[in-house]
Amino acid sequence: MNQKNLLTGIRPTGKLHLGHYFGSIKNLVKLQNEYQSYIEIADVQALTDNFDHPEKVRLNVREVAMDLLASGIDPKKATMFIQSMIPEIAELTVYYSNHVTVSRLHRNPTVKNEINQKKELFGNTGESVTYGFLGYPVSQAADITAFRGEVVPVGEDQLPLLEQCREIVRKFNHIYGDTLKEPEAVLSEHKRIKGLDGNEKMGKSLGNAIYLADSPEEITKKVMGAVTDPNKIKKDDPANPEVCMVYYYHKLMSGKELDTICKECKSGARGCVACKKQLIKNMMEFLKPIQEKRHYYEQHPEEVDKILEEGTKEAQKIATSVMKDVRKSMKLNYFETGE
Ligand code: TRP
Repeated sequence: MNQKNLLTGIRPTGKLHLGHYFGSIKNLVKLQNEYQSYIEIADVQALTDNFDHPEKVRLNVREVAMDLLASGIDPKKATMFIQSMIPEIAELTVYYSNHVTVSRLHRNPTVKNEINQKKELFGNTGESVTYGFLGYPVSQAADITAFRGEVVPVGEDQLPLLEQCREIVRKFNHIYGDTLKEPEAVLSEHKRIKGLDGNEKMGKSLGNAIYLADSPEEITKKVMGAVTDPNKIKKDDPANPEVCMVYYYHKLMSGKELDTICKECKSGARGCVACKKQLIKNMMEFLKPIQEKRHYYEQHPEEVDKILEEGTKEAQKIATSVMKDVRKSMKLNYFETGE
């Protein structure tokens, strides 16, 4: 086991989908064997966008926890915890906020993108961007450093947030003395998976997500609507698998059958309907063990709650110890004897 701590976070705003699975969870399931791992369910961060829907965030904390457990996150290996239950994260956020200028936050490409998306969505001028939302990179730096996170598996879109965290750490250590660990991002092998509609990204808001918990009917409907080679008109026309989203998904989950699929598609020996049906079958097989496990947790919500509660207690220990170091470095350790 590597001595470094791994930390990553997930916003509980909905059930997890295949994009999450291939983009991050699969990698986490592997990494939990290599690092002391902390997985934060980032409910405070989810509230920056959803402050007016607390019930949605609360409900999805458990949904996300079940999806993670079903996908192979093992509570004996990885500590899963709820962000809002660790007050040190909020405390660190306050101290770090002195080291970040407002213009630096506005220049953060991730934040900038998200603000632009909000402008498009709500047609506002950006004036309604809250202090909490603008400052979430600061809070994310607290998420990471409160657990001495050094290895941070994230998607590419998160790199600017990691860079900002590193800046905060360097500034903090420079002013108050060496206290915090500087984290490093690790990208997973599938950076992002495309949607069946051909969109570069799979996402809830894009309406193209295949959820880990989807029923066979939902999967059938989604796969049958997938984008295929537009030049293939008739069933036995030869086609180009490289422009077909069905083939793209076969590559993710059809293993040994892939060569035949590719050859038959190119020669015209395979119609799109049959090809989609094969994908539906393989996708359901792929999801079967995940869904069986998820079903177990759906039937035993008290076990999920217990895992979260114990994980949070475990995570609290390290946050307490980091906070003690931070207070000492910042000369805020007023009532400690012998200091
Ligand atoms: N911002 C991340 C996302 O939207 C989630 C997150 C919250 C996170 N806290 C974190 C990621 C800490 C890495 C480290 O995906």
